[in-house]
Amino acid sequence: MGQIDTSAATPVEPGHAERPTPQVAGIMVRDTANRRLLQTIAASLDLQSVVLELAEFDPDRLADFELIIADEEKALRLRPLITAQLIEKEQIRPALVAVVPAPIAAVPPDEEADSFDAVLALPDNPSVLSAQLGVALYAHRAFARRYRSALEELNLNRNIFRSVTSGISIANAQLPDMPLMYVNPAFEAMTGYSLEEVEGKNCRFLQNGETDQPGLTLIREALSKQRETVAVLKNYRKDGRLFWNELALSPIRNRDGELTHIVGIQMDVTERVELETALRESEKLAAVGRLASAISHEINNPLEAVMNLVYLMDQVLPESEQNTEVRSYIRQADEELKRMKLITAQALRFSKQSHGPEAVTCEDLLSPIIEIYGPRFKNYNVTVELRNRTDQHIVCMVSEIRQVLTNLITNSVHAMHAGGGRLLVRTREAMDTRNERRGIAITIADTGVGMDSATMTNIYKAFFTTKGLQGTGLGLWISAEIVARHHGHLDVRSSRASQRHGTVFRLFLPYQGAAGEDPAKA
Ligand SMILES: Cc1cc2nc3c(=O)[nH]c(=O)nc-3n(C[C@H](O)[C@H](O)[C@H](O)COP(=O)(O)O)c2cc1C
Repeated sequence: MGQIDTSAATPVEPGHAERPTPQVAGIMVRDTANRRLLQTIAASLDLQSVVLELAEFDPDRLADFELIIADEEKALRLRPLITAQLIEKEQIRPALVAVVPAPIAAVPPDEEADSFDAVLALPDNPSVLSAQLGVALYAHRAFARRYRSALEELNLNRNIFRSVTSGISIANAQLPDMPLMYVNPAFEAMTGYSLEEVEGKNCRFLQNGETDQPGLTLIREALSKQRETVAVLKNYRKDGRLFWNELALSPIRNRDGELTHIVGIQMDVTERVELETALRESEKLAAVGRLASAISHEINNPLEAVMNLVYLMDQVLPESEQNTEVRSYIRQADEELKRMKLITAQALRFSKQSHGPEAVTCEDLLSPIIEIYGPRFKNYNVTVELRNRTDQHIVCMVSEIRQVLTNLITNSVHAMHAGGGRLLVRTREAMDTRNERRGIAITIADTGVGMDSATMTNIYKAFFTTKGLQGTGLGLWISAEIVARHHGHLDVRSSRASQRHGTVFRLFLPYQGAAGEDPAKA
């Protein structure tokens, strides 16, 4: 047998000089001459060779071989075993080389013949055979390296899924009703349901039939628009215990952009929601609010009486020189009493809590205000433009947020009432850059006189007002408190420049600014 030149057949990839183990070739070839030839070629490729019999072959031993060279009919029977090993055991399969009698007359009839790593036609020139086998081995080793690193990455991801403390759930978005196909151990621990129990079911079973939740409006909307969202839902564990679930949903798409899966991340936020609920109930502001409400109620009637008396005094006081001073005192007293009336009315309004969190759009929030204040805008020569760029729902205490918006809008109108102007109300989806929370932004821009820096630093302080006797100085202070309770924020920019004067308030509210039980019902 002539010398075999294998140099062209065994190229080495840069950086991958090490060969994977085992370097053993299993040979299942009946013809003795062919078998010997293959053993010699295997040796020339630094492979140890072992002669195998298919009938006695144990599939569990597949992992012991880097390469199996078999007569075609045996190779065909080995192939499903090798594929099963690849899938079930996630092992690197041996390369499978089929031996056919030379010359190859035509392409093998089996339509899957190309799943062999190589087909050798025997007998043939040893150096040609060696080159063919070397190329097959090279390709197989490259595949094995890629497969091993993909497997390592897969295992890493699996370990992450298994070890994270948040629940992870994956739903098949291509099947009707989006059934779950995977949940991680943290989901099982959080809910008490095992993967086997939830597989194939829609995750709504955690709601125990409580389908009328504000957070679900966000979930349904996000699923129908195939987009991300976060919402807090009231859920129940398998043992019936309630927990608050902050659910983040993200759509997964294939290369063609089709939605294939939805990933859900579940966080048990029961403690946070309970704390918020308790805080809302017990927080100082609420106590102040209730106290203010009680006092306002008590004050209202005597106040009305005193105002009437002052009015009568003014009426009955005879017109005379010496009464001028008295009349001016009466008028001042009347102004102060009107201011007191305003304060009591506002305190009453503030202490009146919303019924509970509701899912509403910007349109729902703004339309009634713009309708109610329409005549006043006309009187003050103010044109109003509403640019509503989102129909996204948010969950909030509706009457409280309306109170904030009313306050901002009436402030703007007041700032313009001397000469009229333009009020622009814009809404759009936005993100809180401080914590990447998504929500909506409502901008209220006026062409009023603008504020100086001293006013800007004081506007959120209680009882600070620029409206003299007309204002109470409570509006923005209360607004800021309401916005903070909704985890939102209120920003202001203002200019008094002669050409470009005006003020812009920007109210940001997260999609779910209010959650939990209605404190009024607790
Ligand atoms: C991946 C995924 C995870 C979900 N996880 C929860 C969950 O933990 N709790 C829950 O109440 N709803 C969960 N849902 C939402 C419900 O499955 C369902 O979409 C929701 O109730 C709105 O649909 P429906 O009105 O048909 O019930 C999940 C949805 C998906 C797609």
